[in-house]
Amino acid sequence: MEKTFLMLKPDAVQRGLIGEIISRFEKRGFKLIGLKMLKLDRATAEAHYREHKGKPFFESTVEYITSSPVVAMVWEGKNIVALARQMMGDTNPAQACPGSIRGSYALDISRNIIHGSDSPESAEREIKLYFREDELMSYSKIGEEWLS
Ligand code: CMP
Repeated sequence: MEKTFLMLKPDAVQRGLIGEIISRFEKRGFKLIGLKMLKLDRATAEAHYREHKGKPFFESTVEYITSSPVVAMVWEGKNIVALARQMMGDTNPAQACPGSIRGSYALDISRNIIHGSDSPESAEREIKLYFREDELMSYSKIGEEWLS
């Protein structure tokens, strides 16, 4: 089953949106298989955003993401990479559809609430950056048979 890495950024934690956002993914029918709260160190943040190194927003993004705790998660489900990105909305909240997570809760690209992997390959890399294999749960969930 397809997996993705999602991270609730410092603004989501500080603004009390953890439960609200997790609830959206649960209700959609996705399965939470890994969850931890942590404060990112600089090395992890730089590794996470390595494709943006050299861009004007790299330094401020690393500073922001290491400034306060985040919630790192692994979710599983059919087409989850693309569907989670759809649920999150455009990277820039000013262009995110109303009703999407960023379109509901954010205003500015530098404080956009949530990160989600942009491809199954990125998901694999990002999951490994935050979780050991034995931290990911394998379980069946009641109601799964009603989702496919
Ligand atoms: P994210 O999906 O986590 O990936 C890169 C992050 O850089 C992005 O969300 C934003 O939080 C942040 N960022 C800040 N400024 C910009 C910008 N001008 N363009 C793209 N990303 C930006």
